[in-house]
Amino acid sequence: MLVVTTIAGVRARRQELWRQGKTVAFVPTMGALHEGHLSLVRRGRELADEVWASVFVNPTQFGPGEDFERYPRHLDQDVALLTKEGAALVFAPSVKEMYPRPPEVQVTLPRLAPHLCGAHRPGHFSGVALVVAKLFNIVQPEVALFGAKDFQQAVIIRRLVEDLNVPVRIEVVPTVREADGLAMSSRNSYLAESERQQAVALWQALAAAKAAVASGERRGSELEKLMLATLRRYPGVRPQYVAAVDPETLAPVERVAGGVLLAIAAYVGNTRLIDNLLVEVPQ
Ligand code: PAJ
Repeated sequence: MLVVTTIAGVRARRQELWRQGKTVAFVPTMGALHEGHLSLVRRGRELADEVWASVFVNPTQFGPGEDFERYPRHLDQDVALLTKEGAALVFAPSVKEMYPRPPEVQVTLPRLAPHLCGAHRPGHFSGVALVVAKLFNIVQPEVALFGAKDFQQAVIIRRLVEDLNVPVRIEVVPTVREADGLAMSSRNSYLAESERQQAVALWQALAAAKAAVASGERRGSELEKLMLATLRRYPGVRPQYVAAVDPETLAPVERVAGGVLLAIAAYVGNTRLIDNLLVEVPQ
């Protein structure tokens, strides 16, 4: 597997692949790779001739006081995992390579970003949209893979690609979970053992709301209440938001019809975790 740190290096390799008529599936990441990331790589291998990943902890998507400095960085381990999964190239640029000077262009999605996580992380999705737009222009993949774990991010990237006519197909891959249901995340490594046990609360709350939908509950507010009540059974968990929203607009739903996205963010100790579940409702 090639480890490339410069934009020029990626472009040169991309030219070569075009000459060979080969396609690229792209998996953007911030590294500290786990099975969730690797499931995207595996799916990518089914969709294109080569899978390329990026490992870049993007400063523009972290707010002041968030964990940019602390974010886990294990490039050697990531390279080994990507090699094992059959990725052909990893792009691991420095901050200077991606942002030689402060960016002037902003990519904002003023209707999609303010919901859910965006309400609590101002500027976060502008940073994500900017870096993903840059990465798409650098890599120029045929297809790019994103996890349903970050559902709002996936919705935002789909819309970015649609509005800007970026010639890439977006594929969303299901969330990979631990045995007890906890969604895999690079941030799970922050959890102490006692916190790790409490972290299952998010999945338990989503499962409770899903069961309520199955038994006929259609009121969004009741689903939110139920998720909150479930989270409150875990003393180590501080809910940030619980929401039952429209999977396309991300706006709260009063009455569930079709599909509903159940979404949660909560602190376990000092670690902020998110999870979500898309529930289809029989019409
Ligand atoms: P990161 O958190 O490293 O995630 C990279 C990709 O892996 C995202 O598409 C994310 O949704 C997916 N992913 C993470 N955990 C997953 C899980 N348990 N199951 C399935 N997929 C999972 O998301 C980012 O990085 C950044 O915002 C990025 C898009 C790279 C832009 O900087």
